Amino acid sequence: MSSDPCSFSSFTRCVTKHLNLTLLVDFDRHVIKAKVELTVEALEDRFSALTLDTKDLKVISVSANGQSARFSLGPKHSFKGTPLDITLPFELSRGQHVIVEVTYETSPSASALQWLTPEQTAGKKQPYLFSQCQAHHCRSMVPCQDSPSIKHSYYAQVSVPKDLVAVMSAVRDGQEADPQDNNRIIYRFRQPVPMPSYLIAIVVGALESREIGPRSRVWSEKEFVDKAAFEFSETETMLKTAEGLAGPYVWGQYDILVLPPSFPYGGMENPCLTFATPTLLAGDKSLSNVIAHEISHSWTGNLVSNKTWEHFWLNEGHTVYLERMIGRSLEGEAFRQFKAIGGWKDLQDSVNTFGANNPLTNLIPRLQDVNPDEAFSSVPYEKGFALLYHLEELMGGPEVFMGFVKSYIQMFAYSSVTSEDWKSYLFTYFKDKVDVLNKVDWNAWMFTPGMPPVKPQYDTTLADACIALSQRWIKAKDQDLSSFQDHDVKVLSSHQLIEFLSLLLHEDPLPLTHVKKMQEVYDLNAFMNSEIRFRWLRLCVRCRWEEAVPMALKMATEQGRMKFTRPLFREVFYFEKYQEKAVQVFLAHRAAMHPVTAALVAKDLKVDASQTSSL
Ligand code: BES
Ligand code: ZN
Repeated sequence: MSSDPCSFSSFTRCVTKHLNLTLLVDFDRHVIKAKVELTVEALEDRFSALTLDTKDLKVISVSANGQSARFSLGPKHSFKGTPLDITLPFELSRGQHVIVEVTYETSPSASALQWLTPEQTAGKKQPYLFSQCQAHHCRSMVPCQDSPSIKHSYYAQVSVPKDLVAVMSAVRDGQEADPQDNNRIIYRFRQPVPMPSYLIAIVVGALESREIGPRSRVWSEKEFVDKAAFEFSETETMLKTAEGLAGPYVWGQYDILVLPPSFPYGGMENPCLTFATPTLLAGDKSLSNVIAHEISHSWTGNLVSNKTWEHFWLNEGHTVYLERMIGRSLEGEAFRQFKAIGGWKDLQDSVNTFGANNPLTNLIPRLQDVNPDEAFSSVPYEKGFALLYHLEELMGGPEVFMGFVKSYIQMFAYSSVTSEDWKSYLFTYFKDKVDVLNKVDWNAWMFTPGMPPVKPQYDTTLADACIALSQRWIKAKDQDLSSFQDHDVKVLSSHQLIEFLSLLLHEDPLPLTHVKKMQEVYDLNAFMNSEIRFRWLRLCVRCRWEEAVPMALKMATEQGRMKFTRPLFREVFYFEKYQEKAVQVFLAHRAAMHPVTAALVAKDLKVDASQTSSL
């Protein structure tokens, strides 16, 4: 019986301890030719059969301890992929290990991978490959027990064309000319810390790097390394702050890789090598919370992992909590309070988009037959944060509650946990305050859709200016418009400008005359900070400003961070006059988009899988 609704693999009978990967990256065919050796430990006697997760893999052969093994592929499930059933030619006793070797090839449409042509890169001369395995896409790159309940170390050797560089979510372990092909180089990597499969990551491209700290480098195409080194210069300060809060950093190296614009997330906490969207390179430190967030995952997520994706809030809620504690150390408590207010608003947005009765707005949703990509939202992040903040207030404040978080990390380091494990440790740690904990409406927080049962009272010192300015715009009559001045926004920080726009997006659309005036006095079209631009363009489209439509579609396609691209496409789609335009632009870009982004935007725009750009 498997207890991870998103995996076919049989992990109550056996567990993977180590992966040894041999990869050959073929840019002509857009496939990885690969061999993986899985070191598997039997958890029961007379063990002789196991199931691995795969998705769109061409399995060539399977062997066990060098003897060939029978295997069969089951029926394909839409998002879980295809179970690979393997029968060993012998039996193992409980506690024994076997090395299962699978030779295979990935598909050009592997959902974990995006293959970019040279034209899609900054340098325009070399192709590029990157992976994004979270949540359930590793199986399209490596046959494995693709569940976060399983942790293993890994070693990898990657053969790539000699003008390219490979990096992985691991420590670099040297390189050599490929003895099989003198046009290729082999890069080696080792990841000695056990981690879940979703943290396996690879990038191959014309990469360069620069040192930015004693344990950190930035990686990107050469066009961006200097900008990236500047943008991420506070990395070591943040790492030290995080260590002060959460304990020692166990992963050795902490590098940051800046991806091409189609990277679907803001950041991804791949061990030793955080992946980051190039939309962070706007020369605006207000975007640095993404790095604080990914650094925090080094403890919550990567050291202590959610056991299944139903407990995703344990990863993201604690990580947002830590991210904001780093913000508190570096910027002060008022700043943390301000960020918490913004988070509550993001939660409200998600609840509105999903609907307040939608079970996917539960802190702990049931994911039986739910695609984790489709369930993704701010809920695990912000309902999770709100619960932790609420408990912080009940238990005695930030220092006291951080004591619990640090102890929880120590207690469960190197393992995977459920919300039940977390809660029972909370009750153990605060054994003198159990009466207070028992007053928390746990069922409402964890298993009830919609907004949380309690709204924390956050301090509004930094939010007041945003609230005041948004209220002036909301209440303004046409004759009041001349009272607005450039100065209104000059006195706001980028954080505050983002909050101001978020507030307006929460209200009924402003009259078109108002947003036109706003552009005239504030010139928001000139802002390059992606968090500002994205909200501003949504506001304009929402207010039916036709001139903003091409700008919104441009932003939706020039970069592919789903947080921006999906709402921008949706906003244009709901502007009836431009609905068809949105679909048309999507279809024209679809082939060049990341596979996961393309699938989700297609769903948002109600585009049928069979519709192609030629129709
Ligand atoms: N681990 C997530 C990204 C992710 C989640 C990828 C689920 C695939 C499936 C990452 O840590 C994250 O949360 N990124 C945020 C950063 C933000 C909260 C500061 C993002 O991409 O916007
Ligand atoms: Zn995260």
